Amino acid sequence: MNIEDLKTKPHRWLVTGCAGFIGSNLIETLLNLNQKVTGLDNFSTGFQYNLDEVEQSIGKEKWQNFTFIKADIRDPEACTKACEGQDFVLHQAALGSVPRSIADPLLTNENNITGFLNMLVAAKDAKVKRFVYAASSSTYGDHPGLPKKEDLIGKPLSPYAVTKYVNELYADVFATTYGFKTIGLRYFNVFGKRQDPYGAYAAVIPLWFSSLIKKTDVFINGDGETSRDFCYIDNTVQANIKACLAENENAANQVYNVAFGERTTLNELFYLIKDLVASQFPEIKTAEPVYRDFRPGDVRHSLADISKAADLLGYKPVYSVRKGLELAANWYINNIK
Ligand SMILES: NC(=O)c1ccc[n+]([C@@H]2O[C@H](COP(=O)([O-])OP(=O)(O)OC[C@H]3O[C@@H](n4cnc5c(N)ncnc54)[C@H](O)[C@@H]3O)[C@@H](O)[C@H]2O)c1
Repeated sequence: MNIEDLKTKPHRWLVTGCAGFIGSNLIETLLNLNQKVTGLDNFSTGFQYNLDEVEQSIGKEKWQNFTFIKADIRDPEACTKACEGQDFVLHQAALGSVPRSIADPLLTNENNITGFLNMLVAAKDAKVKRFVYAASSSTYGDHPGLPKKEDLIGKPLSPYAVTKYVNELYADVFATTYGFKTIGLRYFNVFGKRQDPYGAYAAVIPLWFSSLIKKTDVFINGDGETSRDFCYIDNTVQANIKACLAENENAANQVYNVAFGERTTLNELFYLIKDLVASQFPEIKTAEPVYRDFRPGDVRHSLADISKAADLLGYKPVYSVRKGLELAANWYINNIK
């Protein structure tokens, strides 16, 4: 089935982490496709204003198809209730950020491993058709190979990376032990509207948009030649939906890279973002980054081989980094307070 065909074929979807960045973009797309969507969130790093923005963007009528559950995935009963009667689960709820996991590994473990297991058990017991979960490129750890291929991983470099790898191990065991169908999507630095620019654990793109708009220093950890495969949110949303719809028998019980398939250094990223912001705020044209020490736990380079997702899921990223940054720039310029 094509994504557009969903419009006339409503299914029931549960999106955990729906008040966060990726989750809120998933519910927006699904509701625009006339799907019945339940969202679950505990607002630990997500916000009511993200849900309000989705409601505004899709309109009151489509919003009627949305049910919100304020709950915590560390509560197994809440997970059971949320999964009842769902066709698909898109499990996004977790505590992101490598530095946060270094500061508080127990908290990251509870949310990302115990919470994940609660959701996996609940989804299996509810017999959902497919459980698609947010895995992470951090699972490649210290493996030096580039581009990253799904089967070649190294040792994790942070507690966060351990949790995301454990998710994959549990999903795999649930396939062999219970015949439960899961798909793990290893996201590579997703960016776009509603990614939180505030707080100590903000990701690089929203943080830099915010710093440049507010005319404060932009810090680069290391020499700026660290590179990432930045992926615009709409590509990520496409991968999630295709992971649920993929009919190929071999598609399930696998993990896939979800990225654009191109490498951008932090130095390049800085100038791309600066040029976009400078078109609205010409006074920052001469801004330069401030270099400081490398950050513990960060991998040096990241670039995905996306051929597996292309072959088995039909994933085809549409938005380049440059195009995605243009779209993100519009949103940050209008929304940074
Ligand atoms: N953004 C990226 O580049 C990226 C990269 C790799 C993996 N991921 C993964 O993608 C997922 C979504 O990330 P995001 O960038 O949207 O982060 P986010 O922080 O914006 O969203 C996460 C959402 O989950 C909710 N949540 C957290 N713990 C919860 C709990 N115990 N119970 C209920 N809700 C809870 C938060 O309140 C938040 O709304 C996460 O699993 C993250 O690890 C993201």
